[in-house]
Amino acid sequence: MRVRDLQHAVLPRVTSEERSRQEAVVSLRRLLNTRVRPQNIDAYSAEGLPAFVEANGRQPQSPDEVQEAFLMSPRYRRWSAANRAAQEMIWVSVGEPTYRDLDRMTQAAADLIDAPQKLGSLTLDPDYDPSPEVADLDIHLQPGGYGMDRGEHDVVAGALYECGGNVFSFGQGIGRGDSKASVIIKLLESDYEGFVPGKMLDMGCSAGAASAAYAAHWPDAEVHAIDIGAGMLRYAHARAESLGVAVHFHQMDASALTFEDDSFDLVVTHNVLHEIGADKRRAMLREALRVVRPGGVVIHQDVDIRRPPSLIHQVERDWDTHFNGEAHWATYATADLIADMHAAGFPREAIVEHDLAAIHGANRWYAISGKKPG
Ligand SMILES: C[S@@+](CC[C@H](N)C(=O)[O-])C[C@H]1O[C@@H](n2cnc3c(N)ncnc32)[C@H](O)[C@@H]1O
Repeated sequence: MRVRDLQHAVLPRVTSEERSRQEAVVSLRRLLNTRVRPQNIDAYSAEGLPAFVEANGRQPQSPDEVQEAFLMSPRYRRWSAANRAAQEMIWVSVGEPTYRDLDRMTQAAADLIDAPQKLGSLTLDPDYDPSPEVADLDIHLQPGGYGMDRGEHDVVAGALYECGGNVFSFGQGIGRGDSKASVIIKLLESDYEGFVPGKMLDMGCSAGAASAAYAAHWPDAEVHAIDIGAGMLRYAHARAESLGVAVHFHQMDASALTFEDDSFDLVVTHNVLHEIGADKRRAMLREALRVVRPGGVVIHQDVDIRRPPSLIHQVERDWDTHFNGEAHWATYATADLIADMHAAGFPREAIVEHDLAAIHGANRWYAISGKKPG
């Protein structure tokens, strides 16, 4: 299979050897996650649980004890170690081309960022200090984390995020129309018929894949996007300019926006809920409602991990919390998001949860949306 990247000027150019290595990681991760991981529950029942009962004379009684029992299964431990190694291999496979091609990428970014005529804009805040709960973590083991900033024209965090995401998603990539943005556009068409934003905000945009997809889909809309990391935002901005779409990127915290009240028709987040703690999440939900206009729509989309059928499945799901640097994975999965949206100010009848099919493949996404009264 091929790793499908959307081509643009700041994307690292890979050699055929580097491409082969990325494809090997894609294959290994696909094997571990689609073929072997579904057997983890069976490994628990066949090996982990009996070992726990023999050692303790009783059944596990808490999530911690269920995890202890999982770890008593040799099969589960082998999968866990292999999956951790495969996740680390993602970053090696995309780090090599990124640092090898960095001079060219940095120059390409500088040319696009400093160009006199631009479609969009980039507003960095040199006084902004990314919150420690994100900046001090290598979430999903991305080296340097989301907040990494190596100085003027640095784009490494964004390059690692885009390329790592392409390998992580089994090579499906984040194309112009092949992204989570397409799922949300489809949701708007079906559930908010006739709604077309004139001005929108994408919060926690990372490399700006969804932001650029929205700008391409609604060329007349004014698209704004925020993130905490300067290295991420420079890359996102240069990427959007290279793709020929207009996006205005800002370094800003989603829980403390500097936009005026009622500024946007549409506010979205993609895969941000699972990256932040409960207090920040609640503040972000309040801010999204504050900056959307009356009659406007807020949609928070994220991974579909919120309905495990049993405690055993829940503990299995929480592997990422313990072994993949996803500190807020379980916090998000167990949050009462309807209560949080209501506490943020949405009337209950305006809040809808969605179970959404991916545009391609069997993956599903969770989303929660609300229309601001008025
Ligand atoms: C998993 S990434 C999702 C990126 C992108 N929306 C996507 O779906 O591919 C989460 C992003 O949220 C950003 N983020 C985390 N906390 C944030 C905050 N408080 N304010 C703004 N962005 C934040 C991170 O820097 C990171 O780029």
